[in-house]
Amino acid sequence: MKKILILNGPNLNLLGVREKGIYGNQSFEEYFETLKSQYTKIDLTYFQDNNEGAIIDKLHEVGFAYTGIVLNAGAYTHTSIAIADAIAAITTPVVEIHISNVHQREEFRHHSYLSKNCKGVILGFGLDSYRLAIESFL
Ligand code: DQA
Repeated sequence: MKKILILNGPNLNLLGVREKGIYGNQSFEEYFETLKSQYTKIDLTYFQDNNEGAIIDKLHEVGFAYTGIVLNAGAYTHTSIAIADAIAAITTPVVEIHISNVHQREEFRHHSYLSKNCKGVILGFGLDSYRLAIESFL
C-alpha cells in the first residue's frame, strides 16, 4: 500500500480561522476527512507542527520509508535552509505545496528555499493543492 504523509508547518493549524480571504473557511482536519474518504486505497497520514525542528524530525522519520510527502512548510518555505537540507537528505520524494498563489503576494513569499530539493511544486489552488500533490504520487 502506498504511504503518503501530509506535513503542515506553522500556523496551518489555524486554517478555517486564519485570514479566511486567503486560506478559506475550512479547517484542515475537516478537509483531511474528505481526502481520507476519497483515497481509501492509500495509507494517508497527516502531521502538523509549528516548530522547524519537529518538521525536520518528521522528514527524517518517514523519509526513507514512505511513497511521498506533501509538504506545506508555511513561512519556513521562505526562510529554512535546514528544512531544505532535510529534504535533500531523505530518499522519499517531497512535493512542495501552497494553498495561496505566493507569487501574487508579498515579494518575500516569492522565494522558496525548498523547491530546488522537491520533486515538484503545486500552488494557488486552495486546499485542492494538497489533492493535486497526492495525485502526483499515484
Ligand atoms: C502558505 C504560504 C506561505 O507564504 C505562508 O507563510 C503560509 C501558507 C500557503 O499555503 O499559501 O503560512 O504556505
